[in-house]
Amino acid sequence: MQRLLTGLQPSGALHIGNYFGALKPFVDLYGDYESSLLVVDYHALTTLKNPEELRQNIVNVVKDYLAVGVDPKRATIFKQSDVPEHTELAWIFETLVTVPFLMQAHAYKDKVAKGLEANAGLFNYPMLMAADILLYDIDVVPVGADQRQHIEYAREAAAKFNETFGETFKEPKERILESVATVPGTDGQKMSKSYGNTIPLFGTKDEIAKAVMSIVTDSSGESPEHVYNIHSLFKERGELGALYKANKGNYKASKEALVEDIEATVAPMRERRESISDDEVRTVLAEGAEKARERASKKMTEVRKKIGVMI
Ligand code: TYM
Repeated sequence: MQRLLTGLQPSGALHIGNYFGALKPFVDLYGDYESSLLVVDYHALTTLKNPEELRQNIVNVVKDYLAVGVDPKRATIFKQSDVPEHTELAWIFETLVTVPFLMQAHAYKDKVAKGLEANAGLFNYPMLMAADILLYDIDVVPVGADQRQHIEYAREAAAKFNETFGETFKEPKERILESVATVPGTDGQKMSKSYGNTIPLFGTKDEIAKAVMSIVTDSSGESPEHVYNIHSLFKERGELGALYKANKGNYKASKEALVEDIEATVAPMRERRESISDDEVRTVLAEGAEKARERASKKMTEVRKKIGVMI
């Protein structure tokens, strides 16, 4: 059976870009694979330095995973920090790739271009992500388009290691669905926490409505392009055509219709989410960590032997 894995950072509330770009594709696929769903808490530490917030975000993300329909019996749900082999393997990869190679990473380049100070964790971020994937011999990684380069980095780390120490790691493939590769935010740019243009996945109806009402509309166009593009995630384009024709010039009506369509998708998941306790989250993570550790430690024994640290 082929292996599938994806991961999300617990750096804030998940938004509909995370849902359509990564989570939904995972949910649609995971039954056909041996699947793992990761909470990448050490990645989140590159930006979030508030322990209370991080703890809460971790619990929330796992609740989100369960609420969107991931069954912990059919997918290993775990957090990165519970399996120290991830950071260990990342270190080994860091000794194999060069500084100029890592300097090409978009996340790092963007930060520097904005004049912000990038920490060394952000710089090495792609090698920790490579470890997340390569430790488990993953075949397919469902992600949004912004992660394409990171999967290339993972392939490169695998190739470098294999070349140096002998065939050990499988080269993974990304799975990026064209229609949701880059979900736009309320301003038409890529939806992203750092741009402040998100529609929360599990906000209250009021919070969702507030975000939708803030979608930027251009009064010169026939139909509000950004509203329409987000709407097309929730409704067939065929049905939308008629709706936007009827609402021509009345952007508020189109936005109200969008709120109702988001609500129709999210409300049942939100209801399910409310019944999930913190204790359930702890149990899921403990069981997931145990399974993941077993596989990771096997792989790392092989790695330690190959690089020569096991005597
Ligand atoms: P993160 O936490 O930034 O985002 C999680 C997932 O959501 C997708 N995504 C989007 N997709 C479409 N449109 C958008 N506007 C949008 N915004 C976010 C991302 O592409 C991603 O799939 N580096 C990763 C986390 C990670 C990981 C991994 C993923 C760490 N290790 C191993 C897969 C496998 C990240 O920062 O995702």
